[in-house]
Amino acid sequence: MKLPRRFFQPLATGAPAPFRELPVKLERMIHFVPPHNDKVRARVPELAATVDVVLGNLEDAVPVDQKEAARKGFVAMAQATDFAASGTGLWTRINALNSPWILDDLFEIVSQVGDKLDVVMVPKVEGPWDIHYIDQLLAQLEAKHGVSKPILVHAILETAEGVANVDAIASASPRMHGMSLGPADLAASRGMKTTRVGGGHPDYRVIADPTSDGAARASAQQDLWHYTIAKMVDACMANGLKAFYGPFGDFSDGEACEAQFRNAFLMGCAGAWTLHPNQVAIAKRVFAPDPAEVAFAVRIVEAMPDGTGAVMLDGKMQDDATWKQAKVIVDLARLVAEKDPELAKTYGLK
Ligand code: GLV
Ligand code: MG
Repeated sequence: MKLPRRFFQPLATGAPAPFRELPVKLERMIHFVPPHNDKVRARVPELAATVDVVLGNLEDAVPVDQKEAARKGFVAMAQATDFAASGTGLWTRINALNSPWILDDLFEIVSQVGDKLDVVMVPKVEGPWDIHYIDQLLAQLEAKHGVSKPILVHAILETAEGVANVDAIASASPRMHGMSLGPADLAASRGMKTTRVGGGHPDYRVIADPTSDGAARASAQQDLWHYTIAKMVDACMANGLKAFYGPFGDFSDGEACEAQFRNAFLMGCAGAWTLHPNQVAIAKRVFAPDPAEVAFAVRIVEAMPDGTGAVMLDGKMQDDATWKQAKVIVDLARLVAEKDPELAKTYGLK
């Protein structure tokens, strides 16, 4: 275990010092683009103004014979667009640590566009040792290529071993940005019996007890991902990181996508992946607080200016703890309002 005093030291001479606090950014959706697809890439400058994060995907869903094209396409799209101008994050999902592509992914990207890259998403993270490896390598590359701002690391929680080690992953490095649930790989790794990418399953349900009159028993579908999301949120928030719902694979079922995203939002997640343009509007709707909730939260904050004591509002008890709950909502609303003029109007924040 590293000494606390050394935790924030750069891991290579000349590499930038790690952030003490995460930059405060709105990240309602991490929008995936396939950088080897010329048509999609051409639309990235326009897309960048409409989403919070653009992620160039190099890993799963990119065919083996396109891995190099995807990496080169990512560098080209990073060079062609000024993401910072619209406050949009630029991320990449690199190939897994046990793949033959990861070294070239990092070498080529950091050497050519390291200063434009905000976050590297690392798939199939199993434990803190994976983060330590990436942390050291990124520091060496930052130092070598004169990158001035630390590149953050985002882990995908998508193996049973990763879930078992989630706390240690979250606290492995000050370079950690957060984590996303990877329900497809995680389902496979755990031996779950579903071929879906995220969302519920019609056979995963609870059933009411039989009644004496033999009436049909009430039964309701349950959330397969509740436990993992809760565990991920706790590990992230305990370490000052952000948690995200990952992909929702059924593009034709916007209603189910919205319900799954909303559960994640209510449980503490900051955003989700969007794999299809239709999901961007869903993420915008979900990962911003409800205007009525914001109005009530503002009343709580204003009723207790120093955040202490107890007051009654509409018959509901408020105290130091509910003041903190209200502050989470008001702070998020302010962040959303800065980026989204339409929502800013509905929030009416001063
Ligand atoms: C995402 O990478 C997943 O496996 O769900
Ligand atoms: Mg995966």
